[in-house]
Amino acid sequence: MTAHLADSAFLRACRREPVPHTPVWFMRQAGRSLPEYRRVREGTSMLAACATPDLVVEITMQPVRRYSTDAAIFFSDIVVPLKAIGVDLDITPGVGPVVGSPVRDASGIAALRPLEPSDVPYVTESVQALVKELDRVPLIGFAGGPFTLASYLIEGGPSKNHDRTKAMMYGAPELWHELMDRLTAITLAFLRIQVAAGASAIQLFDSWVGAVAPVDYRAYVLPHTSRIFAGLADLGVPRIHFGVGTGELLGVMGEAGADVVGVDWRVPLDEAALRVGPGKALQGNLDPAVLLAPWDVVEPRARDVLERGRVAEGHVFNLGHGVLPSTDPDQLARLTDFVHEASAR
Ligand code: CP3
Repeated sequence: MTAHLADSAFLRACRREPVPHTPVWFMRQAGRSLPEYRRVREGTSMLAACATPDLVVEITMQPVRRYSTDAAIFFSDIVVPLKAIGVDLDITPGVGPVVGSPVRDASGIAALRPLEPSDVPYVTESVQALVKELDRVPLIGFAGGPFTLASYLIEGGPSKNHDRTKAMMYGAPELWHELMDRLTAITLAFLRIQVAAGASAIQLFDSWVGAVAPVDYRAYVLPHTSRIFAGLADLGVPRIHFGVGTGELLGVMGEAGADVVGVDWRVPLDEAALRVGPGKALQGNLDPAVLLAPWDVVEPRARDVLERGRVAEGHVFNLGHGVLPSTDPDQLARLTDFVHEASAR
């Protein structure tokens, strides 16, 4: 990593060091809210796009060029490593990941083999090309958290209540832990491949883990997420841990071993800092729907996020979840500039 990169506001904030301004990027910054994204994606399926390095580089760069965000997020999807080991799945527009034969028994779990770098050559190639192109802007690699991946595999697609997932978790804990062990190994491999190719930080998106209670998180999820973060420790890159609806889980998520905890919009950052505990930076947490309101509504709320974020030992400004597809890109441009100007020290 070059000195410029290591000294970037984003990586400094993740390490809880003083910053010239609060760094900002947006979950789902690359994607459907951008007309230039829709243009380059025309005629190419999501998974085909993820396997085409030229497209991955272009789409990852689009929001960085447009907004001057402090970090880029790798254009891919949480199901890419599962597809790469042979799981029969696709990403259906407007729905999300759909699995042909859901994983519900020991034989389905046994088929989930480890991920090798040679399964995803296009990931290595894309990350290497991106790191050159981005120059002084850090690239965030990512993977899905094991609960979220398990839910897609078991349910066969998006789910409101995660019924079958929880049925296995509570009713067949040995099967559950075997599945989580395999997903943990795949996730760890996928993240290490991205860092080996040059990613400067990683984020674990356990988007749907807010569906479990803290006591169950501790029993059924924490052992696995802890192994993922511990398995990345030797790489020396900041590790970000994010989920939605995790207000009650912030304390136990803080124990999993990430350097930065992502917070959705439901818990103010000063309160989140108390729940997560010392020794962590926070990332978040403007409600993405606020951006659908006029700027004079957005500005005081963004200022409030910045002010509360000062309570944390480090703060990376973000939304509380992904950019909504109907968001006007000009609002994100204005928000990026506002965060930079209002936080300048
Ligand atoms: O800009 C970024 O954040 C980088 C790219 C990214 C995508 N997916 C691209 C994508 C990232 C980080 C993800 C992660 C992801 N994928 C998560 C975790 C983050 C979160 O939002 O909670 C989850 C749960 C998924 C699964 C998934 N993939 C969903 C729910 C969807 C949306 C389906 C839809 O069309 O409503 C996808 C598809 C997807 N992943 C799109 C993009 C840009 C849209 C596909 C398209 O443009 O055709």
